[in-house]
Amino acid sequence: MAEGRVAGRAVAERDFAAVLAQVKPEAERLMALYPEKRSALLPMLHAFQNVEGWLSPEAMAEAGRMLSVPLSVVESTASFYTLFFRRPIGRYMLQVCRNLSCRMNGADDVMAYFRERLGVGHLQTTDDGTFSYEEVECLAACDRAPSMQVNLEFVYDLTPEKIDELIAAMKAGTYEVAPLPQTAMPARDWHVGQDTGRKSPGGQDVSHPNAPGGMGDPSGIDLIERLARSPYPIEARPTQERLVREGAERLKHAPHNGEVEH
Ligand code: FES
Repeated sequence: MAEGRVAGRAVAERDFAAVLAQVKPEAERLMALYPEKRSALLPMLHAFQNVEGWLSPEAMAEAGRMLSVPLSVVESTASFYTLFFRRPIGRYMLQVCRNLSCRMNGADDVMAYFRERLGVGHLQTTDDGTFSYEEVECLAACDRAPSMQVNLEFVYDLTPEKIDELIAAMKAGTYEVAPLPQTAMPARDWHVGQDTGRKSPGGQDVSHPNAPGGMGDPSGIDLIERLARSPYPIEARPTQERLVREGAERLKHAPHNGEVEH
């Protein structure tokens, strides 16, 4: 693959024909493993992602063609899992669990610390293309909460010190998990399709992810108050978020000044 330069750093120039040539032997091996070749879909998508660094539309189309599976099935499978990156991303994909056990064990602080250190929020990439950050659902590592994955490898028992260490090691190129190949420079926001803005309506147009209403508003209380101050009625907003709906109810019955109890 040829190389280009972005932010002073070499980024391999995208060449899908070269990617395909590299993946093909593994794809054929995978298809031969199963009585029904379509069963090889997930490992085949991983094989493309391992080479390209992300799961491109061309890779999904090619996987569908090889497995005789409609593209809609490939795309709906890939979009179900946070294991697949459907946009170019940073060399380190940091996926922090935001589910119950982790939150009971300090994940709110961990997520806020990551956002503070990296200066990006959920589903964003740092401007130098090094780190992508995402808050994901349960990683099935609840016994070592708070947990995360770095390029799909587990990291457990997160603390601010541990986060400092791993970010420093990644920047220095000494981290134990290898960086992903980078065949395209990622955009700052890597929302895909229906993901756009849906996970937190208050997360848009906020100056910093940890500001009230940003992705770092863990309780949602600031978000509710922000929406309450908005000229648009909460009920009219296209959201199904339980917290917002319940917040609207609480505001209706709030005494006098409309403040919500924290
Ligand atoms: S809740 Fe975080 S890994 Fe299960």
